[in-house]
Amino acid sequence: MEIYLDTSDISAVERLYRILPLAGVTTNPSIVAKGQGKNPLPLKSLLRALRNAMDNQARLFVQVLANNAQDMITEAQILHEYTDNLVVKIPVTAEGLVAIKQLKQMNIPTLGTAVYGAGQGLLAALSGADYIAPYVNRVDAQGGNGIQMVAELQKLLTEHAPHVKILAASFKTPRQALECMMLGCKSITLPVDIIEQFIADPAVDAAVTQFEHDWQNAFGNKSLNI
Ligand code: G3P
Repeated sequence: MEIYLDTSDISAVERLYRILPLAGVTTNPSIVAKGQGKNPLPLKSLLRALRNAMDNQARLFVQVLANNAQDMITEAQILHEYTDNLVVKIPVTAEGLVAIKQLKQMNIPTLGTAVYGAGQGLLAALSGADYIAPYVNRVDAQGGNGIQMVAELQKLLTEHAPHVKILAASFKTPRQALECMMLGCKSITLPVDIIEQFIADPAVDAAVTQFEHDWQNAFGNKSLNI
């Protein structure tokens, strides 16, 4: 499966790309705005920096800002021409579906985003989106059941659009992410703090320290002597 970082923080991407099996980075307008300091980079420069932080190999997901189909398509064309291996994120509104259908004809890969329901996600898939991003925590925060929505969407895609991948998004806990992965989602995007929690268990550090202690007690040094 593909794991993405949901961030525009260049130094976090650089640090975590070295450690984790990341397929790339996902952004949206809020994430781009939040990741910028006092001197915000133009979008094109930011995307270049994110790509550089990942050995120029990884996939980028970048969202349009327009809310009518024609302007979404224009923005998508510009983003598509920026760089290879970029997927354009389109909110799954009525206008977004128009854009997704036309972008499919133009061979511009898309992700249907801001998905709050399985039926909404299926329509984006049938319209030609390559990825669908259900918003797990935002559904939970509304009093719904984000994981159940993902399960329903995964079932619908398996039945009716098996080539389309869920890219599960919007997480506040590692458990939410784990449950999506167990449902068979082919891709997921995680905020920096959530992905770090998968590898930051104090019990792991304690176990490693104990290995060193036991070895040193027996052999008097910290080397395997091989
Ligand atoms: O990728 C979409 C996602 O970033 C939304 O997350 O945390 O704003 O609900 P959040």
